[in-house]
Amino acid sequence: MSALLVVCISLCVAVPAVHGSINSVMSRLSDRIFLDQNTRDSPGHPPFSWSHNKGLYGTEVKLNFHGEPEMAVLREAFSIYDNNMFATAWITACSLETTLYGTGPMTIPLMIDSAVEAIGNFHNRNYNFTNSIMTFWPQVYNATTRTFQSTPSNLLQLLQLADTFPVKLIEDLMKIFGLKDMEQVVEHLIQEKDMFSRAFHIPPDFDDTFVNLGLGALLRNAQESYPQSWKQWQIQNSNVTSALHALRKYAYRPSSTNPDVNTIDPRTYFYMRSFLSEHHDENLALVPTWIQNTREAMQGDKKGVSMPFSVNNVDVTVAANAIYGLTSGLLSNIIDDVEFDADLQRIYLNTSSLIAHELSYNFSSRPDLALTYYPSKHECYWFVARTLSLMQRYLLNNNETDTLPFPVMNTVKLAFENTLKREVTPEILKASKDDFEGRIYWDNFLGDGDINSDNSSVVRAEDRIFTTAMVVNTLIDVWTVYNQSAFRLEWLPGVSPQLNDTIKRAVAWLTDFSLGPTYKPWNTFFSGSGKGLKSLPFWYPANRIEYMNGTAVNSSVIPHGVNFLIGISGYVPDEKYNAMLKVPHFGVMTPTDFPGFNDPTEPHGFFPFWSSDSYTYSATLMALSKYTNIKQ
Ligand SMILES: *[C@@H]1O[C@H](CO)[C@@H](O)[C@H](O)[C@H]1NC(C)=O
Ligand SMILES: *[C@@H]1O[C@H](CO)[C@@H](O)[C@H](O)[C@H]1NC(C)=O
Ligand SMILES: *[C@@H]1O[C@H](CO)[C@@H](O)[C@H](O)[C@H]1NC(C)=O
Ligand SMILES: *[C@@H]1O[C@H](CO)[C@@H](O)[C@H](O)[C@H]1NC(C)=O
Ligand SMILES: *[C@@H]1O[C@H](CO)[C@@H](O)[C@H](O)[C@H]1NC(C)=O
Ligand SMILES: *[C@@H]1O[C@H](CO)[C@@H](O)[C@H](O)[C@H]1NC(C)=O
Ligand SMILES: *[C@@H]1O[C@H](CO)[C@@H](O)[C@H](O)[C@H]1NC(C)=O
Ligand SMILES: *[C@@H]1O[C@H](CO)[C@@H](O)[C@H](O)[C@H]1NC(C)=O
Ligand SMILES: *[C@@H]1O[C@H](CO)[C@@H](O)[C@H](O)[C@H]1NC(C)=O
Ligand SMILES: *[C@@H]1O[C@H](CO)[C@@H](O)[C@H](O)[C@H]1NC(C)=O
Ligand SMILES: *[C@@H]1O[C@H](CO)[C@@H](O)[C@H](O)[C@H]1NC(C)=O
Repeated sequence: MSALLVVCISLCVAVPAVHGSINSVMSRLSDRIFLDQNTRDSPGHPPFSWSHNKGLYGTEVKLNFHGEPEMAVLREAFSIYDNNMFATAWITACSLETTLYGTGPMTIPLMIDSAVEAIGNFHNRNYNFTNSIMTFWPQVYNATTRTFQSTPSNLLQLLQLADTFPVKLIEDLMKIFGLKDMEQVVEHLIQEKDMFSRAFHIPPDFDDTFVNLGLGALLRNAQESYPQSWKQWQIQNSNVTSALHALRKYAYRPSSTNPDVNTIDPRTYFYMRSFLSEHHDENLALVPTWIQNTREAMQGDKKGVSMPFSVNNVDVTVAANAIYGLTSGLLSNIIDDVEFDADLQRIYLNTSSLIAHELSYNFSSRPDLALTYYPSKHECYWFVARTLSLMQRYLLNNNETDTLPFPVMNTVKLAFENTLKREVTPEILKASKDDFEGRIYWDNFLGDGDINSDNSSVVRAEDRIFTTAMVVNTLIDVWTVYNQSAFRLEWLPGVSPQLNDTIKRAVAWLTDFSLGPTYKPWNTFFSGSGKGLKSLPFWYPANRIEYMNGTAVNSSVIPHGVNFLIGISGYVPDEKYNAMLKVPHFGVMTPTDFPGFNDPTEPHGFFPFWSSDSYTYSATLMALSKYTNIKQ
């Protein structure tokens, strides 16, 4: 009881911020990141301790409960250490950019070496050739199925514990502690066990794959400081072609007649329909999330390598990472120019057009679907902005030419420039919040849907530091360019005094609060695709609803188990699609609007998300470092 009380008090009372100079904040951020990297492999004994992999930085899997004080306690208390590639790749990328383009402290080479080596354990092992096809979790060999299965060891062990869990005892204890309604939540969690356990056995993805290529491009630029890391990355990635080959093979092609590549998650189709409607006769090809198709998912299911819901999707954030990986790979010659053939150029252009469209149109008012796995739109903004930044840098520092090496790249640059300067920037400025002490910050949603015991609302702003850092990184990448001979960032023409002032005040906020005790350093850098009942695939129009064995599913009863597919195949003309929106699916009308990530109509709803303190710190460090390098 008293422990809970302490948690609650520390959650509810704001402690004044500690002032510090920007340089001292940078060096303290850098220290925190240093301390968080695992220096060795260590086994765990869930739920008392967790296994840690050498070279990786900390990530926690949490559940986004919201609402009553007990829910906030649970959100804080539930935390499972996770070993994945994504967070470490991003933290390393931020560390590299911190010194490549900023004045911040240099990360010691051993840390980068160790991270790159750890990332080397995430190459797909189900191919018998060297490849750069990456997985989110490490794979472990399963002798029964003779496949390497994606294995989040801590999460799996926890689920196995649930089998022998004294559920009843825990529920009774919760009642004694006055955690009303918690029994239902626990029961719900246990019920979802099979779904979770299957959701872990995922195939490789284009996200991790292109983030790895983007990291390689940065390492090539930073090779003077990190020669060993660059060498190691090259050894691990001697077959970059494999990633491009996979992209051509698995791209989502709505106009194709091949059901393997023309079928997509009905939630993707729903948010994307205005884009598809405008461009459906252009033979579109788009970067999907998973490196697998529906046929392989059905075969792979028995082997424990299968996409969730057996169908691919298009996530705008994954798409942004793929475009960055391709752009940086080509500009730094990690990807050979001859590889960038007509089909890849089509995928590159079409995917960038989709990104620009979604950024300009408010993610079709459905960020829960468009940002399928990434609830932070601010993170998505930065992922797009860094591609533009790369192109601007190339043009400024290359005397010989005033164009990018491929015409299609120039087209993409214009599209990104338009959306980031004319749509995203004004929208960001509008959403900024003034603390009336000269500082500015931005909020997303974590901890912002709670109520106190007297039913008054409380904003805990648990992702405010991360969100503000990502906004600053976005604005700096859009509105400045790095001059290689001056080693400085320079403002681009068109910077308004308001923008200049906003960045300055946001940096002041980060300097004062990023290390203080007032706000959590949490983020939602990744999540499950379902954010609540309304984002489950069943309710969205689909034209392929079948069991793995090909038997059609009775469309009035939600199928049991996990061995089924719900997708939309091919292009469905507007008129037909709109008619599908007028009828219920599995008895429910399609949810047409977004209730927010803390849905007030689902007080016991929750979704899993991934948070990494070090990622927040490294994104903040990069923002401060670049800011202090802008020539005023
Ligand atoms: C790799 O696997 C493929 C099919 O799975 C097989 O045809 C080929 O012989 C294998 N190659 C090597 C070098 O083992
Ligand atoms: C590179 O990857 C491709 C698949 O994309 C594969 O066919 C080829 O054998 C690999 N090359 C090497 C040297 O492993
Ligand atoms: C091997 O894979 C099968 C099928 O996914 C699964 O049922 C089994 O539990 C796995 N074995 C281990 C040791 O993980
Ligand atoms: C898709 O790519 C094709 C081939 O490059 C191009 O003709 C078409 O305009 C593109 N459409 C969009 C929306 O990018
Ligand atoms: C943008 O999307 C949000 C949902 O995230 C919605 O609440 C809002 O009304 C939309 N704004 C506009 C201008 O369409
Ligand atoms: C660009 O030109 C300037 C002078 O014309 C020269 O000093 C500089 O080295 C050139 N930079 C590159 C990257 O070629
Ligand atoms: C709590 O407040 C909300 C609106 O702020 C209101 O709709 C609800 O009825 C209140 N609940 C109780 C128990 O007072
Ligand atoms: C880059 O900086 C150098 C040195 O300050 C300056 O001479 C040059 O004009 C700058 N380049 C551009 C394109 O602004
Ligand atoms: C296909 O699978 C479903 C669900 O497992 C089952 O109900 C159905 O009988 C199967 N059909 C055939 C033809 O095996
Ligand atoms: C589908 O399920 C409903 C409800 O259980 C049942 O009434 C109906 O007969 C089923 N339809 C088919 C084709 O099996
Ligand atoms: C930005 O503001 C600083 C003062 O904070 C000023 O020195 C600088 O000239 C401004 N730059 C632009 C591009 O407005």
